[in-house]
Amino acid sequence: MKTTITAVRARQVWDSRGRPTVEADVTLAGAASGRACAPAGASRGAHEAWELRDGGTRFGGLGVDRAVAAVNGEIAALLAGRNALDQEGLDAAMTEADGTANLSRFGANAIVAVSLALLDAAAAGSGLARWELLAQGCKVRIPLPEIQIFGGGAHAGRRTDVQDFMIMAPRADSIREAFEITADVFRAAGRLMEETGRLAGAADEGGWWPMFSSNEDALDALVQSIERSGHRPGEDVFISLDVAANELHDAGRYRLGLDNADFSSADMVGRVADWVRRYPILSIEDPVSQDDLEGFALATRSFGATTQLIGDDILVTDAERVRRAAAAGAGNAVLVKVNQAGTVSRAKAALDAAKALNWGAIVSARSGETEDVAIAHLAVGWDAGQIKVGSFARSERMAKWNELLRIEEAMGADAVFAGVSAFAPWVAEALG
Ligand code: PGA
Ligand code: ZN
Repeated sequence: MKTTITAVRARQVWDSRGRPTVEADVTLAGAASGRACAPAGASRGAHEAWELRDGGTRFGGLGVDRAVAAVNGEIAALLAGRNALDQEGLDAAMTEADGTANLSRFGANAIVAVSLALLDAAAAGSGLARWELLAQGCKVRIPLPEIQIFGGGAHAGRRTDVQDFMIMAPRADSIREAFEITADVFRAAGRLMEETGRLAGAADEGGWWPMFSSNEDALDALVQSIERSGHRPGEDVFISLDVAANELHDAGRYRLGLDNADFSSADMVGRVADWVRRYPILSIEDPVSQDDLEGFALATRSFGATTQLIGDDILVTDAERVRRAAAAGAGNAVLVKVNQAGTVSRAKAALDAAKALNWGAIVSARSGETEDVAIAHLAVGWDAGQIKVGSFARSERMAKWNELLRIEEAMGADAVFAGVSAFAPWVAEALG
């Protein structure tokens, strides 16, 4: 059969932070092949699938020789002769052979590179784009992007407490238009930071890394940047924040260093709720830490009826955690990071769980990325509705955005931009 796997091979390549990562190639009998790279997070949740690093002193302990060896040894032997189209079966075979709950034996970085390379090979072997293979003939939307303007937190020397200051343009007609709006705002923000002498550098995901005197100073600067770009905050451009509060949390307390504030969970939620009231914020990710389900539920009661409330570190792309959170009345959207789950199939299960609840779903990159564009295809092919890649700069980010432009063009007249429909229905309704 054309799609029979003949070889699986991995190598060490380098990610956008100059750290080693795993790249996998899958070759099929029909001569088609696929390739994918594992991404890597910096603000990781403790419940994520395990990224296997070599430890020791070489590359600061970040080597991936053991993960590469797992692919070239056990995983390659396991998959040889099987049909690349059987993504679920192959993903299950890898996770079963790994044998650990968090995939720490082979490493989730080994498994995810192979899982994504299998998808790429299966699509190539079928003569389809990856998004087309995933869509299986169903109508799918071009996702609404959330795009970083200022980077902070663990991605920028903790210069701001909040990790991502992003924008969304849900009323754009196409992703092309959403990018044009973003380019305007990104340029205006850069100029504003330069003029006011606040630019410190570029954050890990390519956003401006400015010096702010408070988290609200950053929010004010973002509103000002939108206004200066000629767009209207709260009408055509909205703010989306990833608080990444896991990084601010210690022993039951939350510390906003920039604001010199030390909060209980309820007060932390209160502070975020205050921002939501005073700024044109449409979406909030991780307002509380990875184990603070009560705080997440409180945030949902407080502003989840009108604001998207995304779980990242608290849900870690796990279907069961999504269902548990929903049962506790916590959250209304899931961040989907394939490497948090470990396989394409597990990530899809988390997305399906969210869809069954009428939640939003955002396919997301990590802060450590490569030129790999698989997530653009996942977001479209799964009809996720939203995508998060980082900022509007640096080629590991732009590669994904540009791939979405190509997909939108390939769809031609059939292309439908998710826009407002990307949110949970009650959030979409509140937006009008
Ligand atoms: P990470 O950050 O990839 O460093 O975990 C991304 C996010 O928190 O959404
Ligand atoms: Zn996050």
